[in-house]
Amino acid sequence: MKNLETLRKQNNQWRGHFDSLLIPCKKTHHPWIFFDNAATSLKPNSVIDAVVKYYRELPVNIHRSVHELGEEATAIYENTRDEIQTWIKAKKREEIIFTRGTTESLNLVAHGYAKKFLNAGDEIFLSTSEHHSNIVSWQIALKDLGIKITPIPLNHDGTINLEELKSATTEHTKMISYPAISNVLGIINPINEIRDWAKSKGIITVIDGAQAAVHSIIDVLEWDADFVAFSGHKMLGPTGIGILYGKEKWLEQMDPLFGGGDMIDQVAFDKTTYNQLPYKFEAGTPSIGEVFGLGAAVKFIKNLDQEALLEWDKVLMNKMEKVFQELDVFTVLGDLKHKSTPLYSFYAKAFHSHDVAQLLSQFGIAIRSGHLCAQPLMKSFGVTAVARASLAFYNNEDEIERFGEALKKTKAMLQ
Ligand SMILES: Cc1ncc(COP(=O)(O)O)c(C=O)c1O
Repeated sequence: MKNLETLRKQNNQWRGHFDSLLIPCKKTHHPWIFFDNAATSLKPNSVIDAVVKYYRELPVNIHRSVHELGEEATAIYENTRDEIQTWIKAKKREEIIFTRGTTESLNLVAHGYAKKFLNAGDEIFLSTSEHHSNIVSWQIALKDLGIKITPIPLNHDGTINLEELKSATTEHTKMISYPAISNVLGIINPINEIRDWAKSKGIITVIDGAQAAVHSIIDVLEWDADFVAFSGHKMLGPTGIGILYGKEKWLEQMDPLFGGGDMIDQVAFDKTTYNQLPYKFEAGTPSIGEVFGLGAAVKFIKNLDQEALLEWDKVLMNKMEKVFQELDVFTVLGDLKHKSTPLYSFYAKAFHSHDVAQLLSQFGIAIRSGHLCAQPLMKSFGVTAVARASLAFYNNEDEIERFGEALKKTKAMLQ
């Protein structure tokens, strides 16, 4: 257990890696306070440098050219795959597929696996807390196939209700896709319990790790997940790059979603054969600069002191909890005491969440507002929109104090 002063020093050191924390707000002339990290995280300087390195020093295609630059760029690109493999404890590098993000990864599973291997009468479980990408992907891929999509309700604390999950299970239940951490509630689901239930029934598990990756908790060995999807931009990396982890035995049998260069073995007009894993799923010139950046992001996260991170999260959470308790006007979705990450979706019946976000923006504080791409979850709480403050390890106590003051003024202006 580290003392508060040590944690503050550690946080200051972390902050030093993010030049974007110095971006001035034109209204306040102070640096912006970024409390919108669940939408996308800031990028450490090393990630930006890695992307620039690609465009400035190695601006070539990969997997194609035998010139030295091509080989060097290919090595960095493929090394990122290895970094991710060891980080999430995948058994093989072939199980790591680069996509454009969580959304594309989920679509790949919906089209490549579910559409191919599930049959009419089968059922897929989702949870009420899904991001739209983990609802609509299945709806589109499975349209008119007679496959049922069933949402499992949540407990009061915002986690998937295991009793409901078990009692709703039938011989037709073939797959579950759910978030490790909800982007609205900031609460970790009982992954190991869901794993035990799924494995005992032979049910395929797909985990949306979009909000989990930055916390370094993705462990595909322990989770024994069949598929895990996550995005680079929510874990300190660039936009436009994401990962699909899939067990090799499934990826081998799945068809690719996109056709084009690099994903083929032999092409003829009468028959085409595909490349080996993981390239079968990576058609066309990939996001090379983004993969360079993603590699730097993974290295950055791997080097973070995990114990200090967890303890710092608690410091931030205690302080945020006080802000909401003192203000006593906003309702926070999910149980405040059960937050696993400093993520707060809040509303007050009298105010529109966009007004709250817009006023906070005048005070130089960036938060998100709206349905947060989770309309069914909003409906289950009886609201249409919320404001969301989502903090990361580079946020600090001073920023929370300024957030609290700005929220007080916002409340007074709206009342
Ligand atoms: C839980 C969750 N799933 C999926 C997504 C979609 O991620 P992306 O837009 O990067 O594909 C998000 C993004 O907010 C998310 O928070």
